[in-house]
Amino acid sequence: MKRIAVLTSGGDAPGMNAAIRAVVRTAAYHDLQVFGIYRGYQGLIDGEVAELGARSVGGIINRGGTILRTARCKAFYEKEGRAKAADVLAQHGIEGLVVIGGDGSYRGALKLHDEHRIACVGLPGTIDNDIGGTDFTIGYDTALNIALEAIDRIRDTAESHDRVFFVEVMGRHSGYLAMMSGIAGGAEEILVPETPTSIESIVDHLRVNREKGKQSSIIVVAEGDDAGNAIQVAKQVDALANIPNSRVVVIGHLQRGGTPTAFDRVLASRLGVRAVEALMEGTTEKMVGINANNVVLRPFEEAWTCRTQFD
Ligand code: ADP
Ligand code: F6P
Repeated sequence: MKRIAVLTSGGDAPGMNAAIRAVVRTAAYHDLQVFGIYRGYQGLIDGEVAELGARSVGGIINRGGTILRTARCKAFYEKEGRAKAADVLAQHGIEGLVVIGGDGSYRGALKLHDEHRIACVGLPGTIDNDIGGTDFTIGYDTALNIALEAIDRIRDTAESHDRVFFVEVMGRHSGYLAMMSGIAGGAEEILVPETPTSIESIVDHLRVNREKGKQSSIIVVAEGDDAGNAIQVAKQVDALANIPNSRVVVIGHLQRGGTPTAFDRVLASRLGVRAVEALMEGTTEKMVGINANNVVLRPFEEAWTCRTQFD
């Protein structure tokens, strides 16, 4: 293998730049030519490809977002779109592709491999930590710490005003990020899609707490909770409990930006190195993950068949 490419796909995550840097520098170390593909699969279809030298990724390890940009691409769901993408790769003589993204991006990569024999290796990049086959995804730790800082700040004002705050945390269909930020932030309630939410039991807890003299509470709501988002949950609780002065905070995309934590930078660097080595060894259709602090290769399918569990 002489030429490889790297792209970021789906939602951006802090640490993606550190992963791109590791891929480019490792490729350079092994005398491979490496190309960056801009705007994910959309840019691949549109031919947005440029060679990346070792120096081109200087000064990015500390930057959030992705210098390659990212996108969600409808055309890649179709065979014709993937055929165009394969043509672009062939035009540049690219034989191997590193896809940094979530399980959706791997589903696309799997099809690209099956239909056009392009070697594809994935790196788990998402704040949601919802990918099977890896204990942690790149970006999760940074997002967790941002959510935690927000909860800590909200607690100050909640206690000062004797208020109940409903704090919405991202995670799409997964409650992992919400659960861990709620535990770390000492939330009184954590609502996640993995377990059924009972509005009545929340109301009961709040009542018991008030009877004990505790007037303020933090209720963390995962955005994908079965009872609805934080605004909807707050309305249902207020309707039953008549809580004066409750407030809703949606942390939202603040969780996706900013400088990556040391954990995410190191994780991204370790996984990025292994992705290039894996392609050189002839590996394809595998994601590089971290398991019990070991860097591991897992089949793409594990990303969606073995979702990250928590108890
Ligand atoms: P993530 O990779 O973070 O899970 P998405 O699910 O949005 O994010 O997927 C990113 C992109 O991967 C999609 O916009 C699409 O281009 C491609 N993709 C996702 N699922 C498939 C699929 N089943 N077949 C082909 N391409 C897909
Ligand atoms: O997958 C990352 C994520 O931030 C989810 O937590 C969230 O549901 C989704 O992306 C938001 O997507 P968008 O950036 O398109 O609003």
